[in-house]
Amino acid sequence: MRRKLIAGNWKMNGLKADSLALAQAVFEKSANQTNKSFDVLICPPMNVLGMVAALPHNDVLIGSQDVAETVKPNGAFTGDVSAAMVKDLGASCAIVGHSERRQYHHETDAVVCQKAENAIAAGLIAVICVGETLAEREAGQALDVVQHQIAESVPANATAQNTVIAYEPVWAIGTGKVPTTDDVAQIHASIRTKLAEKLGADVAENMRILYGGSVKPENAKELLSVANVDGALIGGASLKADSFWAIAEAVM
Ligand code: 13P
Repeated sequence: MRRKLIAGNWKMNGLKADSLALAQAVFEKSANQTNKSFDVLICPPMNVLGMVAALPHNDVLIGSQDVAETVKPNGAFTGDVSAAMVKDLGASCAIVGHSERRQYHHETDAVVCQKAENAIAAGLIAVICVGETLAEREAGQALDVVQHQIAESVPANATAQNTVIAYEPVWAIGTGKVPTTDDVAQIHASIRTKLAEKLGADVAENMRILYGGSVKPENAKELLSVANVDGALIGGASLKADSFWAIAEAVM
């Protein structure tokens, strides 16, 4: 039985005061919800990651939005933050390969795979993002693109404990557009099939596959009830504790 994961990706949003207030509000909502049937993750930007992780957060997981590509835990890599440093700040997860990193920083599948390996080696859970562009979907290539990203971005030592997959169609991110539930079901099933080929049936069966892209309180229940959807990766709606938690409550 895969436990659902409700994850917030704050992206490049939040100065100290707002971020700490948002984190605190999420921690309170989580603390007030006894016997949760789902896990909660928030991924603040690097400027506040350490401060957020230093707050008492009981069972809420904290993650970074990226880690450095180099395998080295430290060294002359100006501007980079290693997975070991993220772990040292108190985080337990790291998003890697988000489409905004792939697009704006030209990260290839090989880079994403290396980052996922670095996260895992540092003891973090890697949240590996995949997803097709609008042009790829319109050309009928969505399945092929996503399967290829899974084949190339997921490290060989990925397990259901150290890795989570997030399917985020690029055209659905921040646009208010969402795929049909049939399309989501098809892609998620194909991801699981590809994971089974790569990592074995047992790992594939237990690995969580999140959906991301314009998840809102209004569509959360429908998306979270699709077969093989094991949670959500939420951008815009995670910036308000109320809307983030309303999505979490759709799990129940
Ligand atoms: P939105 O929820 O704002 O569409 O963002 C999704 C996303 O990119 C999460 O990583």
